[in-house]
Amino acid sequence: MILVTGGAGFIGGNFILDWLSESGAEGIVNLDKLTYAGNLATLDSLKNDSRHIFVHGDIGDQELVTQLLRDHQPRAIINFAAESHVDRSILGPAEFVQTNVLGTFNLLECAKQYWSNLDSAAKERFRFHHVSTDEVYGSLSATDPAFTEEHPYEPNSPYSASKAGSDHLVRAWFHTYGLPVVTTNCSNNYGPYHFPEKLIPLVILNALNNKPLPIYGDGQQVRDWLYVGDHCSAIREVLAKGRLGETYNIGGWNEKANLDVVKTICSILDELKPRDDGKSYVEQITFVKDRPGHDRRYAIDASKVERELGWRPAETFDTGIRKTVQWYLSNSKWIDGVLSGSYRDWLQKQYT
Ligand code: NAD
Ligand code: DAU
Repeated sequence: MILVTGGAGFIGGNFILDWLSESGAEGIVNLDKLTYAGNLATLDSLKNDSRHIFVHGDIGDQELVTQLLRDHQPRAIINFAAESHVDRSILGPAEFVQTNVLGTFNLLECAKQYWSNLDSAAKERFRFHHVSTDEVYGSLSATDPAFTEEHPYEPNSPYSASKAGSDHLVRAWFHTYGLPVVTTNCSNNYGPYHFPEKLIPLVILNALNNKPLPIYGDGQQVRDWLYVGDHCSAIREVLAKGRLGETYNIGGWNEKANLDVVKTICSILDELKPRDDGKSYVEQITFVKDRPGHDRRYAIDASKVERELGWRPAETFDTGIRKTVQWYLSNSKWIDGVLSGSYRDWLQKQYT
């Protein structure tokens, strides 16, 4: 049994589906608060699968986490739970500090208590895997080398600062208490079940709904895109073979400027679902006010995880983005569920 937090979100949900797609896979207890970003429809296919136990709750709830650890005796905790959207962190940072910093602190404390009472074999086997981001390293210029694990922490947004805080706590619980931790710092993910407040799903759905495709600033900010299934396989590798107390950068070797990403999506949609008027979706691109403090470039040097654990992404950006667009074209039920009132409120607040 493993305990996954935030498993109703984008990456956690993909991780659970991938993990349980293997017959005979270990069961998962999935602790999720079901914030606006949590969506149990992602896990619909597991309704009758007894290997998935969903628990509605907060990683900051000491009593609940202690009870889950006692009842299920997991051999690992994988912490995906977080407030994850930079723009929301700018409008309301408090939740980010609450969940990302204090929630992770609570999880570490409960894990330490649980782990210290295990017998020696179970203690040896136990892992606390913290899922983090490349944004903790700050911003690169066009010519800087990509982030290695040695790059100093220079977070610039309330989101990245709160994730950096959580990474430091995880590191300290290893060095001070010996808790067996591993941390992964990953670049931008995309793929199925991605909540459409983030660039790629927002652009796909706005294009199909004949809405503007909003590009912040000049659209020349660079992100390093990784297909979510590749992130999930990297986490499995690091959980199984990662060295304790180490951090591993995970990335796709796919640096792209935002404007190029959006143009690529438009050209795939032009081919798969042409506009009624015969024009290109590119016509819908609209430049809007830039994000405050917008980081210019992220790039991940993922050579350590390849050298030590033999992991490399299976998808290129071209194959992954095509699969993703196709997924959104074929999954209208999931999309209709997401485009509810609260989602419309967010669009109103952010883009007008
Ligand atoms: P997401 O916002 O889609 O999902 C987060 C999930 O956590 C949701 O299901 C939400 O309900 C749950 N949650 C939030 N607060 C909680 C709390 N206090 N207790 C329990 N559950 C809570 O996020 P995501 O994109 O799936 O990201 C998952 C993790 O990966 C995050 O830690 C994020 O920082 C990290 N990450 C994301 C990306 C990316 O591109 N999306 C890249 C690198 C790292
Ligand atoms: O780098 C990893 C991070 O990637 C994760 O840690 C975060 O959880 C995840 O949300 C993501 O952060 P970004 O801010 O990079 O992702 P987002 O999809 O919000 O934006 C991607 C880029 O696109 C960024 O440069 C901002 C820009 N953008 C975004 C939106 C929503 C636009 O130009 N227009 C938009 O409407």
